[in-house]
Order: sequence, then structure tokens, then C-alpha cells
Amino acid sequence: MNYKNILVETRDKVGVIQLNRPKAMNALNDQLMDELGDALLKFDADEKIGCIVITGSDKAFAAGADISAMAKYTYMDVYKGEYISRNWEHIRRVRKPVIAAVAGYALGGGCELAMMCDFIIAAETAKFGQPEIKIGTTPGAGGTQRLPRAISKAKAMDLCLTARIMDAAEAERAGLVSRIVPADKLLDEAFSAAAIIASMSLPIAMMVKESINRAYETTLTEGILFERRMFHGTFGTEDQKEGMEAFLEKRPPMFKNS
Ligand code: CAA
Repeated sequence: MNYKNILVETRDKVGVIQLNRPKAMNALNDQLMDELGDALLKFDADEKIGCIVITGSDKAFAAGADISAMAKYTYMDVYKGEYISRNWEHIRRVRKPVIAAVAGYALGGGCELAMMCDFIIAAETAKFGQPEIKIGTTPGAGGTQRLPRAISKAKAMDLCLTARIMDAAEAERAGLVSRIVPADKLLDEAFSAAAIIASMSLPIAMMVKESINRAYETTLTEGILFERRMFHGTFGTEDQKEGMEAFLEKRPPMFKNS
């Protein structure tokens, strides 16, 4: 696929995808989401890649779904065309860790896209919100579901009902973002976190991701059983042997991703 709305690069074992529609604040149209899905699934299938970073520009991670594309849609257009779900679910199929590096606006679908990633590193300039109510619609890519799980029902209601925009400091206090850094350090911080993850055993990192995601889908008892079986499963890998032997021999591990 020839990408027109995203930039893709590989830095060592890290795959980087930059949303790139500067004139529209990275508004997420169908073409961009198709390209993003394609790039994500390619990195996921690439044995050399251990972690993926999605980022935007200094001004906007993404200012939401593309309002100019959506404005004229009818119910039948969006229902039959599976608008929003058709190509927004690709990211959930990615089994490798994905970090969102957010500067500027992450609004509506932009906030939802960031929340679909495994964790968010924010610049001090980051702003999060679900202002869809102001344009006569509701969040449509997980905002009403992931936001209450991430930051509490009270804050999710506040943001979705008033369209208030939350700054990076509030987002960190509320638990939406894992760390905040000065804007000029955002990419370095995201790359170094991604490089650390990519230096681990990939199958074990995938098991960690799968186990944590399970916490959102099941009861505590079932989740703990799932985690225990994953833990048991690590003992069938060469990387568990290598990791523990390396610790005991006081040397860095040489994981083989097997
Ligand atoms: N869709 C399409 N175009 C958008 C856009 C969007 N979501 N957000 C910004 N743009 C465009 C603007 O129309 C403008 O284009 P022109 O220069 O051609 O006029 C350009 O980006 C720059 O935007 P502004 O001039 O508005 O810049 P600003 O700095 O004054 O404001 C902003 C920035 C606060 C992000 C403002 O643009 C804004 O409020 N954007 C819309 C945010 C929004 O409502 N997002 C939710 C969309 S619906 C959704 O996402 C559904 C879902 O859940 C999936």
C-alpha cells in the first residue's frame, strides 16, 4: 500500500507510525485508518520488530474522526459501511506492544485511538477530550467504554457530557497516561520505552500484554487463572531458561524470541 496520510519508519527493533495530515490536525478519515491498519499489521508480522510507536505532530496527535467526511453520512451509510468499526479495529489485532506518543490535541477519535494503544506517553502539551457531544454525536470508537475504565465514571461523564478538554497533568493524575515529558523529549522517551520493550523476549511481552488486556474482559478469578496459565506457559519457552540463567550468572540475557 502506498501511504499518503502516515509516515512509517523503523528504528532498530521499533516500528514508528506518524499520523500525517497536518492541514486537518491529523483528522482520522477512512484512508488514514486503512493505512494505519495496514502499517500496524505489517509491523506485527515483521519478526524484526518488537514494539510499535504511534505518534502525531506537535499540534495534534489527532483531532478526531474527520468531520468533513462524516458530516453528510446517513445512518445507512455508517451502518452498512461499518464506518468507524471497519478499519478502527485493526489495532486490537496487533499482538505486539503499541505505545501512543501524544503531543497536542487527542480529541474524539484521537483520544480513542490513543486509548486503544497499550499505554500513552504524553507531552506536557497533550490535551485529551471526547467533545463529540458538541457536534451532535457520541464517541464512536470506544470513548464511552475505555474512558470510564481508565479514569473513572465521574471523569468520563464530565469529559463526554461537557466536552471539557483535560490537560496532560490531569490526564496523568487520572491514570490515562503513564508518564509526562517535556514536548521536545516526547519521541526520545517513547523510543527509549519502546526499545526497552523490544529488548525483552517478544513472546513473553506478548503474553504480558494479553494477560493485562484480559483484566478488562473477565472476572478477577478467571483473570488470575488466565495469568497463572500464561505464567506456567513461560516455562515452555527458551527465553525463560535464558532469562533466569542470565540472572543467576549475573550477565545480560540473550533472548531468542522462542
Ligand atoms: N475533522 C476534520 N477537520 C478537522 C478536525 C476534524 N476532527 N479537527 C480540525 N480540523 C481542521 C479544521 O477544520 C481546520 O481546517 P481548515 O484550516 O481547512 O479550516 C484545521 O483542521 C485546523 O483546525 P482549527 O482551525 O479548528 O484549529 P484550532 O487550533 O483553532 O482548533 C481544535 C483545534 C480544538 C482541535 C479544533 O479544530 C476542533 O475542535 N476540532 C474538532 C474536534 C472534535 O470535535 N473531534 C471529534 C470528532 S468526532 C469523532 O471523533 C467521532 C468518534 O468518536 C470516532
